[in-house]
Amino acid sequence: MKTEIHQRFESKLPADDDHPYRTGAWRPQTVEYDAWDLEVVGEIPDDLAGVYLRNTENPLLPPIERYHPFDGDGMLHSISFAGGEARYHNRFVRTDGFMAEREAGETLWAGIAESPKLAKRTDGWGARPRMKDASSTDVVVHRGVALTSFWLCGDLYRLDPYTLEDLGKESFGGRFPAEGVSAHPKIDENTGEMLFFNYGTDAPYMHYGVVDAEGELAHYIDVPLPGPRLPHDMAFTENFAIVNDCPMFWDPEAMRAGHYATRFFPELPTRFGVIPRRGSSQQIRWFEAEPTFVLHWINAYEDGDEIVLDGFFQSTPSPPRVPGMTLNETLFRYLDLYAMGARAHRWRFDLKTGACREQRLSDRIMEFGMINGRYAGRPNRYSYNALPAEGWFGFEGIVKHDLVRGTEEVVKLPEGVFASETAMAPRIGSTSEDDGYLVTFTMDTNDDRSECLVLNAASPGDEPIARITLPERIASGTHACWHAGR
Ligand SMILES: [Fe+2]
Repeated sequence: MKTEIHQRFESKLPADDDHPYRTGAWRPQTVEYDAWDLEVVGEIPDDLAGVYLRNTENPLLPPIERYHPFDGDGMLHSISFAGGEARYHNRFVRTDGFMAEREAGETLWAGIAESPKLAKRTDGWGARPRMKDASSTDVVVHRGVALTSFWLCGDLYRLDPYTLEDLGKESFGGRFPAEGVSAHPKIDENTGEMLFFNYGTDAPYMHYGVVDAEGELAHYIDVPLPGPRLPHDMAFTENFAIVNDCPMFWDPEAMRAGHYATRFFPELPTRFGVIPRRGSSQQIRWFEAEPTFVLHWINAYEDGDEIVLDGFFQSTPSPPRVPGMTLNETLFRYLDLYAMGARAHRWRFDLKTGACREQRLSDRIMEFGMINGRYAGRPNRYSYNALPAEGWFGFEGIVKHDLVRGTEEVVKLPEGVFASETAMAPRIGSTSEDDGYLVTFTMDTNDDRSECLVLNAASPGDEPIARITLPERIASGTHACWHAGR
């Protein structure tokens, strides 16, 4: 392996750090690398071309009071494949907040587990006051540019997906929404459009927008909600966008006193807003379903007069307090997908009658479902889901879920080795939905190393096709994506 260090950063975290999300698989990285001639066990296929991007949280500074993993500064990792070779880069996302805190040498904004009153700065980004936009949650590629985003809304930071060169902030030609953009903008590979939403504490509480294939903000509408909500993801079909109003949001009473405490309201339904992709606020149709919170959708598509939406239903979105647990332990129950009971689920919206039917798709705890991106918004058969670790936020493996047969193929990694969100990379010239590769980064806490695994998407349980060593163990994080190569 040949490596060059692009930049080293100083960490002010304690040397004997024992925070569960700054140690083990979540140990932050401080060095940016460029690496090539990577060590490979197996062989990188010639028909694997494109780039796998992974966003991770990497704090360098102690929090003002209490650290939550979603406060960590975004660091993007890129591995690109062409002609049987791979190159790797990693870079901090140079957000305005990251740069300001580096200059100050201290944390300036309040984290999500802290009161906004603790922040040293009065400005901030996103749906909550006095908070930093870490751009650490998600990454997509639109028009050949990687865009990182933050779950509580903020800017979109642009990077070259192949080199991670900093390309500045997205402006949509001066029309970037003042409310920011939420994590999980959606790319329609068939039209070249990017669909997005944002949310906040001021009416109408949500907006929906479309950026066209030329990069213009072509559509932007109000999505009026009954009050501030915390939607995390959206979905789309060929003709519709689907937004959601789940009954888990900041307690309105606490919010009036300046506290941002998430609460589940089981007496309220889950509501889905179905919007013609270029439709008006008046054209939104709302469907009601069982109360839950959904972190991520798998896919949506049209089936005659119905819209099918697959995602992960949580049976206990607000895990009950366990006697004897510390405040942090209670807080981090919201990161344990077992405690929340996340399972694959299907909603069907009947556009003729306005009815909604629901069906559980699997009894297994799973989340972070990825599909072959060419099938987004179109009927799909397969999803590649993360097999969560129990008791904390990590992935022990991958589950290929056949949604037609209802079967599951489970790939469990060795004890102490964890996966990233696993992307599906269609093979060049692929002829079917699962004709391609699964790509993920591992965090091996036994041997203190990371690899990129390339698996056969048709039979992921086979021996890996390639295992590629990365220069250093990466931190765990949230989302990843695949962008097909040139
Ligand atoms: Fe997410």
